[in-house]
This record gives sequence, C-alpha cells and structure tokens, in this order.
Amino acid sequence: MRRCAIMPWSGWSDQQLWSHLRDNEQGVDHGSRVWLRERLREWGETHSLLDVGCGTGVEYEGIRREGLQTEYVGLDACERAIALARRTYPETRMRRWWVGDAGHLPCADNSFDVVLLRHVLEHLPDFRPAVREALRVACCQVVLIFFWPPGEEQIPRMHEGTHWNRYRLADVLDCLDDECSVRIETAPDLGVNGNFALVGHL
Ligand SMILES: C[S@@+](CC[C@H](N)C(=O)[O-])C[C@H]1O[C@@H](n2cnc3c(N)ncnc32)[C@H](O)[C@@H]1O
Repeated sequence: MRRCAIMPWSGWSDQQLWSHLRDNEQGVDHGSRVWLRERLREWGETHSLLDVGCGTGVEYEGIRREGLQTEYVGLDACERAIALARRTYPETRMRRWWVGDAGHLPCADNSFDVVLLRHVLEHLPDFRPAVREALRVACCQVVLIFFWPPGEEQIPRMHEGTHWNRYRLADVLDCLDDECSVRIETAPDLGVNGNFALVGHL
C-alpha cells in the first residue's frame, strides 16, 4: 500500500477542522507563532512567505492581525482546509491559497524569501522531499517547526496514530546541511509539547 500523509482531519466537519488548528494549543498566540512573527519582523516585514501545510490559515491570521507587510501564500494538501481559508480570508492581492503537495511545490526556485513548515514534517512518511523543496523554493530562510522527534523525547500524541514521525533531529539537520550551506539556529523553548524550531539561512 502506498504510504501517504496522515491527515486525520480530512474526515472532520469544517467546524472541527477550524477549531482544531485555530483554537487548540496551536492557536494564533501559541509561542511558536509569536516567535515566528518576531523573526519575520527581524528579517524585514516585507518578506514573502510560503506557508507549506498552512491548514486553515492560522498563521496568516496572526500576520494580518499584527499588520505585518509579509506577502503570504498558504499551501496545503487538504482541499477542505484551503476552501475554509479562502472563505475566511478572501483577499486576492496575490492568489493567496493554493492546494498542493509539500513534496512538489508549484513554485520556481528561489521564489519566496521564507518557506515555513509548521507541524507538517510529523505527518509525512518521509520528510526529506518536503525539506528539499523548501530549500529549493526559499531564497533567504527555511523555518521548520516540529515536535521533539521520537528518540529525542517521547510525547503521547506521537502514538495516537495521527503522526508518522519518521525522523530524528540529526536526520533533519543532515538534510538541511546536505542541500546547501545553511546556518542552523535553534530557537529557545517554544512552549508546550516540546515545540522545536530550526531556521536554515540560505
Ligand atoms: C498539524 S497541521 C499544521 C497546520 C499549520 N501549519 C499549523 O501550524 O497550524 C498539518 C498540515 O499539514 C498538511 N499536510 C499534510 N501532508 C501534506 C503534504 N504532503 N503537502 C501539503 N500539506 C500537507 C495537512 O493537511 C495539515 O493542514
């Protein structure tokens, strides 16, 4: 059987989908989102950002709320999540919401300043194609936010059948290092559930 991304939410109602990604511990003011917005300000608000695996667009909500000038595009494999994002944030200055696969981004090389994967690696049977694509498409930073990988520190959610978690921290670092010359920054503790962030500077 072909291994595919685990997307338990694809069978949920719109309301469940919306509240899971927005109101649970991954809400707009989650530590890792606040941390990301601080980084975007530090790097220059006018950056373009591709949010791979954007879900229903929570990241965009925070960016818009704080008035950051970031040119944002959200991409997700889940058509219903993208449909919800389009209905909620219908702005059309750019074609802001795309259905697509993290492993085959429909973008030219170096076409976004920053590419973000926030809690997406955990759901992929192999994280490497997604990281390689992020490195190809980004010209300044690749930001990876994920749970402490198995083997590093276990958390119950990893065993609930919703996550592949087929990575170790050393493998992610290797993948970043292999693809190009990157400087890795480890973000400070980002709050609940062992959130962890790596920034690759290209
Ligand atoms: C846990 S959610 C995280 C959503 C959002 N990044 C956030 O932090 O709230 C994981 C997201 O990754 C998406 N996803 C899973 N596999 C994907 C793939 N191969 N390509 C693009 N998106 C994918 C899912 O549909 C889901 O919206």
